[in-house]
Amino acid sequence: MGKTFVFLGPPGAGKGTQANRLVEEKGFVQISTGDILREAVKQGTELGKEAKKYMDAGKLVPDEIIIGIMKEKLEEIGDRDIILDGFPRTIPQAEALEKMLPQTGRQLDGVVLFNVPDEEVVSRLSGRRVDPETGKVYHLTHNPPPEGVEVVQREDDREEVVKNRLKVYHSQTAPLIDYYRNKGKLVVIDASTNPEDVYTHLLSVVK
Ligand code: AP5
Repeated sequence: MGKTFVFLGPPGAGKGTQANRLVEEKGFVQISTGDILREAVKQGTELGKEAKKYMDAGKLVPDEIIIGIMKEKLEEIGDRDIILDGFPRTIPQAEALEKMLPQTGRQLDGVVLFNVPDEEVVSRLSGRRVDPETGKVYHLTHNPPPEGVEVVQREDDREEVVKNRLKVYHSQTAPLIDYYRNKGKLVVIDASTNPEDVYTHLLSVVK
């Protein structure tokens, strides 16, 4: 069975950026609950309509919805190496994952915490732009989109929503840091440095 890693960290920590690189260069499969929800919003499905209310306000989508999505994904993914990007995000989600993994023949290999101070989060998210065609993520200063590529700002990257997402991270998601540290699963990465250094550190963890 493939490896299973969880990516944990505040919004804008670079979880998606680094996960993409592991997908492209190391054959991992990225399961991003944020991407799944944004796709549902785009398609206008029932899930999307329900999720949008929470996402636009910077709140978490209810646990039972997210756990259901993850269960389905884990069942269809087969035996590849996977990154759970943005899941779990609450203690009940972590407890659900603990039950789900053995049911699909998996075990948790590690939880990578991307450590970034709040001020850096705000600067990264205010400059983030996304290509709506490919989903590729850019930054106006650190990684500008190529000439001719039309990019948009995510609805939840507006300043007042970012502030709320950070609050939610500290109150509902940060408790997972001690939860996984106590289980001996946590690896902390300094994600405030440049993407190349973060990737080098990450590779030493996942290999
Ligand atoms: P989600 O999409 O998961 O958002 P997030 O965790 O807040 O993470 P982001 O996508 O904002 O950031 P990232 O860490 O991936 O950073 P990125 O690589 O893009 O969730 C969105 C919403 O969905 C939630 O608010 C919630 O409503 C809902 N949701 C999702 N999962 C849920 C769950 N499990 N339970 C309940 N609700 C859930 O990088 C950010 C920017 O910085 C980019 O511009 C990038 O180019 C730049 N950058 C990256 N690395 C660096 C670097 N090292 N140096 C400089 N710039 C960098």
